[in-house]
Amino acid sequence: MELMEIIKKRRSIRRYSDRQISRRDMEKIIEAGAAAPNAGGGQRSILVGVHNSRLTTQIGLMNMKKFDRSKLAGSYVSREQPSVIDDPSIRNGFYGAPSVVIIFGQKNFMFRTADAFCCAENMVLQAAELDIASCIISRGEETFSDEEGEKLLREWDIPENYSAVCFVILGYTDDKQPSSKPIRQGRIKIIE
Ligand SMILES: Cc1cc2nc3c(=O)[nH]c(=O)nc-3n(C[C@H](O)[C@H](O)[C@H](O)COP(=O)(O)O)c2cc1C
Repeated sequence: MELMEIIKKRRSIRRYSDRQISRRDMEKIIEAGAAAPNAGGGQRSILVGVHNSRLTTQIGLMNMKKFDRSKLAGSYVSREQPSVIDDPSIRNGFYGAPSVVIIFGQKNFMFRTADAFCCAENMVLQAAELDIASCIISRGEETFSDEEGEKLLREWDIPENYSAVCFVILGYTDDKQPSSKPIRQGRIKIIE
């Protein structure tokens, strides 16, 4: 598939079946993330793959517990596959995906967020090429900001000067692939 085809095919998926992705595919997706452009060439982001559906769900519930809906009143994201913003009955911020990659950034590094989302974008594109469903999820720092979260970070040996920035959830859906979104008019200019 051509790169532009993959870019346009990729959509955020928010309903997952129980089917797990292979470990080999997860490794390839993480490799794509680790190869992303990064500020100063420092390769500071740390990528942790959780290839375990029970643990992924636990973290998805923690992610949703920290969600402050009041900040987004009136927003609407998707009619095809409602997001946590659209549907207050959604309790798992990872929508039942069986795997997740957590992207950690070095605290106090000014480009930690930019670096993390470059990794995330590479990963969702690699997932699309493998026909794996994905979605970028935010609220990384908040997700691990209590005793339950801190315990996991200790278990995984995450350095003290790192905290989570965002997530890429991974899996398969039984739903129809959402159609490509048209690009909103007026966003592109080329100056000769
Ligand atoms: C910085 C960023 C944060 C996002 N956070 C979330 C999130 O927490 N939950 C979610 O369901 N989708 C999240 N998304 C996915 C966007 O909602 C999605 O990309 C957007 O609606 C466009 O739809 P598409 O990805 O299907 O083209 C995030 C995307 C980005 C780039």
